[in-house]
Amino acid sequence: MGLTEPAGVGGNPLTEGLERLPVHPTTLVIFGATGDLARRKLLPALYNLAHEGALPERFHLVGSSRSELRDEDFRERAAAGVREFSRREVDETVLDALLASARYVSGDLDDDGLYGRVGEVLDAYDADADEPLHRCFYLATAPALFPVVVEALGARGLDACENAQVRVVIEKPFGADLQEARELNARVLGVFDEQQVFRIDHYLGKETVQNVLAFRFANGMFEPLWNRNYIDHVEITAAEDLGIGSRAGYYDAAGALRDLIQNHMLQLLTLLCMEPPTSFSADAVRDEKVKVLRAIAAPPPQEAVRAQYTPGAVSGEPVPGYLQEDGVPDGSTTETYAALRLQVDNWRWAGVPILLRTGKRLARKVTEIAVTLKPVPHLAFDSAGSVGPQPNQLVLTVQPNEGVTLKLAAKIPGSRMRIRPVNMEFLYGTAFLSQSPEAYERLILDAMRGDATLFTRNDEVEAQWRICDPVLRAWCDSSEPPAGYAAGSQGPAQADALIDGAWRAI
Ligand code: BG6
Repeated sequence: MGLTEPAGVGGNPLTEGLERLPVHPTTLVIFGATGDLARRKLLPALYNLAHEGALPERFHLVGSSRSELRDEDFRERAAAGVREFSRREVDETVLDALLASARYVSGDLDDDGLYGRVGEVLDAYDADADEPLHRCFYLATAPALFPVVVEALGARGLDACENAQVRVVIEKPFGADLQEARELNARVLGVFDEQQVFRIDHYLGKETVQNVLAFRFANGMFEPLWNRNYIDHVEITAAEDLGIGSRAGYYDAAGALRDLIQNHMLQLLTLLCMEPPTSFSADAVRDEKVKVLRAIAAPPPQEAVRAQYTPGAVSGEPVPGYLQEDGVPDGSTTETYAALRLQVDNWRWAGVPILLRTGKRLARKVTEIAVTLKPVPHLAFDSAGSVGPQPNQLVLTVQPNEGVTLKLAAKIPGSRMRIRPVNMEFLYGTAFLSQSPEAYERLILDAMRGDATLFTRNDEVEAQWRICDPVLRAWCDSSEPPAGYAAGSQGPAQADALIDGAWRAI
């Protein structure tokens, strides 16, 4: 940028920094290309990247799954998914250009022949470009097929390509427990090097989640407070008002702890608690995150609460309980709500309760991290007749109403010293004039660029499971059914026992 040029896009200094980084010419192969994830997230993300000119000039898409489709059918389906789920109005010219060279390869993922056909398509693109393009394999399949696809790629020699990078993106869940995650890591790393593997946790792709790092490490004022001397407790909430929808098959085997806590919520925790990394390289950041996870012991049974929603009302509409949802087996004890009280046993955090809770069919959708500071040690004036001073609280809201709020005590105007909390707010929506990219846009681009900072490393995923495994086992062995909470409520009363005081209202 020249010195006289205005900062940022269109001269708006607030949008500075949204420019895209260069990406090497790449072919992206999506296994599971006709599935829900591809339709709702991956293809719309690709479209939005294309719209912003963020894809490499030479970019090709290959879809693969079991359905018998011709290339044209796949393109038409992909376009329909984009039109339905893109965050922006679709420009048909951009969409056509994105899908013009897209190919489709049908077949069973456990049939070796499929990979031969995929290889031929990749070679043809390379021949056409007269150079080997980078290759990125995206596994958006059923989790049981992750090792199958990886090993089949290896058997066909598709794990490497002369003069080009080959990468594999693996969706969640990465195993259903520690043992499975270890086995999966062993099988994946039997074919690919860790540098080639990108384990997705879409929360890391959210702007507001990355802002936790910016907030902590780009501001000098919070760091001195960021420890056990000043912080009383932390509440991390990922509440949803929706039920399980049509996902009973997946959800009943998973439950809330596996679905959100083992991955997304532990990621939020590590970003909040990690030490400043020496650099923002993938390994420096992940080394620090792993140290946090290793400092957390699995909570004892009395510090883990599970519950299931019963019939209730959301936004005034009656909704069924979990056991009445389509596809949920009679008498299922799967938890749709989970709350844990954790401790990070290190110099910075020892003794600070870190409370995690997540659930389906709660009062509203909100994901936030609330850091409550210790109360003032002594109040020099009489604040009678007021709400009174309450501890300062810093709330990082991941979604919706993305932003940061600082709760302060202020004097109510008048002749008496009356106090009540007031909020100081930063809202993304007003501070930055452009719409944030979707998490998948950022992550797909990073995977194609080979930047693994926002992906989960092998030791990290195992450390996450080490915390959750004993809880899952205790729940599985327990003869006590999960507690109940009415759909649309704040969650089960049992969770109140985890916190000294009260949870923030959802
Ligand atoms: C997914 C879970 O990983 O995250 C879903 O499988 C959950 O059950 C979703 O609804 C929440 O993601 P977001 O981005 O809507 O907060």
